[in-house]
Amino acid sequence: MARRSLLVGFGGFLPDRVVTNDELAARLETSDEWIKTRTGITRRHIAGPQDTATSMGAAAARKALEYAGLTAADIDAVIVGTSTPDQAFPATAVRIQAELGMAQGFAFDIAAACSGFIFALATADSFIRSGQARNVLVIGSEVYSRIVDWSDRGTCVLFGDGAGAVVLSGTDEAGKAGLLSTHLHSDGTAGDLLYVDGAVGRRDMSGHLKMSGRDVFRHAVAKLSSSVDEALEAEGLSYSDVSWLVPHQANIRIIEGVGKKLGLPPERVVVTVDRHANTSAASIPLALDEAVRDGRIKKGDLVLMEALGGGLTWGSALARL
Ligand code: UT7
Repeated sequence: MARRSLLVGFGGFLPDRVVTNDELAARLETSDEWIKTRTGITRRHIAGPQDTATSMGAAAARKALEYAGLTAADIDAVIVGTSTPDQAFPATAVRIQAELGMAQGFAFDIAAACSGFIFALATADSFIRSGQARNVLVIGSEVYSRIVDWSDRGTCVLFGDGAGAVVLSGTDEAGKAGLLSTHLHSDGTAGDLLYVDGAVGRRDMSGHLKMSGRDVFRHAVAKLSSSVDEALEAEGLSYSDVSWLVPHQANIRIIEGVGKKLGLPPERVVVTVDRHANTSAASIPLALDEAVRDGRIKKGDLVLMEALGGGLTWGSALARL
């Protein structure tokens, strides 16, 4: 029996400060009505001065470890999906290691924008399957409030801050549970549709997020649709086998489109975009954490995760809880 990765721990962290659409409408030419109907978003959490990708990621990781009944001493690797690290280096994952008191194992970040969690999950799974790690913390942690242009109504209303974490644990025992497959893609030729204009290597640029919303929307609908087909076909499964869709939370219209394609009733689609907005790499683990803890997702359920983000990057992960 080949080694498989079980999802054994879930955790999330959201900053205290909640910003409503009305609060944004008080200082920008926008409205609660526009934001709600175009995106499904009603509010978002915004980081306070003390919140960083490291502090939020560590908070989510502690909760995931507690859920799994493990301690940091049991962890062999920390992999973080983030586009908003505290520093160019050390990686956020290494800083989180330090917060958890870990001097063992290895830790690094993955830059795949909103697909960061799926890419991190796939990477962690590879280490587990190859026997290089047994327990891996997979984290998505983002402070997009620090890279959006707060004067650009076309982008700043879409994002929020937060972190989510999952503990993956390898098993050699027979069974159906675990991460069944992951599928990753990127298309570098579409990089200019969604990007951050500069970073520490290009301080001459603004450092702000830029997006061609309509084009990204079109890509998201087409690529996420083919992504879910690819995931199910690889496992010989059909739409009716899926218990839950846990999608990246960018826009309710994209989420509902994929849900409809799968023939899933809305109550089988985990939605947080209404309350969290788009938290990029944190959105899937935050949604997973919420739905596992409130009892919606149960042991044995087949969960389909998918995401698309800057790069363009996109992909899916299929797991039996
Ligand atoms: O997580 C990474 C992946 N990201 C995504 O998947 C996001 C994909 N894109 C989208 O979700 C949507 O394209 C948006 C929500 C970003 C925009 O929705 P849209 O229905 O595509 O609107 P639009 O960009 O075509 O803009 C429609 C109008 C424009 O006005 P005109 O040119 O028609 O006069 C915009 O200037 O809405 C205007 N607009 C706004 N109005 C009020 C843009 N932003 C706002 C705003 N408030 N915040």
